[in-house]
Amino acid sequence: MERYLDKVASRVLATNGSSVLEIGSGPGWDAEYLQAQGVVVHRTDGARAFVDRLGANGHDARPLDVRTGDLGGPHAAIIANAVLVHLDRQQFADLIPRVRDPLVAGGCFAFTFKEGDGHAWAADKLTGPRSFTYWTEPGVRSGLEGSGMSLVDANQWDGQRDT
Ligand SMILES: C[S@@+](CC[C@H](N)C(=O)[O-])C[C@H]1O[C@@H](n2cnc3c(N)ncnc32)[C@H](O)[C@@H]1O
Repeated sequence: MERYLDKVASRVLATNGSSVLEIGSGPGWDAEYLQAQGVVVHRTDGARAFVDRLGANGHDARPLDVRTGDLGGPHAAIIANAVLVHLDRQQFADLIPRVRDPLVAGGCFAFTFKEGDGHAWAADKLTGPRSFTYWTEPGVRSGLEGSGMSLVDANQWDGQRDT
């Protein structure tokens, strides 16, 4: 995970004076890691409770539902770690042009998915069920490249339950 964030940081720091939009910051661990490397991160989350928690910890966070919200810009990078798994395939396709347009030239969109096919509901961790869509690298690649973006880097690593 650090390697993925390190790559984002080095790309952003090579882009003059620009910052990162984080979608689905949750508790904000990734933002903390990037900020420790000198990156300015704009924290957001679809859940008000996370936004409030980030605010209470002294961070400037705002509510943002990635499916419909204003992504602002310009951004050197937009990151979404363990968030877009909760979108269905059409919602991800709809997001691509909305992410592409606020990025600066040479900017990057960095995100993680669970690898595989199909869709599943998970009933653990929260009181309500969570929706997961699984992706393969070729599927992600074709979705991006059909929208004028290119997949420049892809890595796999083993999570607690999925790759
Ligand atoms: C597994 S957490 C990941 C948090 C953080 N990115 C990390 O890696 O620690 C998933 C986050 O996505 C947020 N989320 C889920 N659906 C979202 C949506 N449609 N728009 C924005 N955030 C969403 C959740 O509220 C939650 O904070």
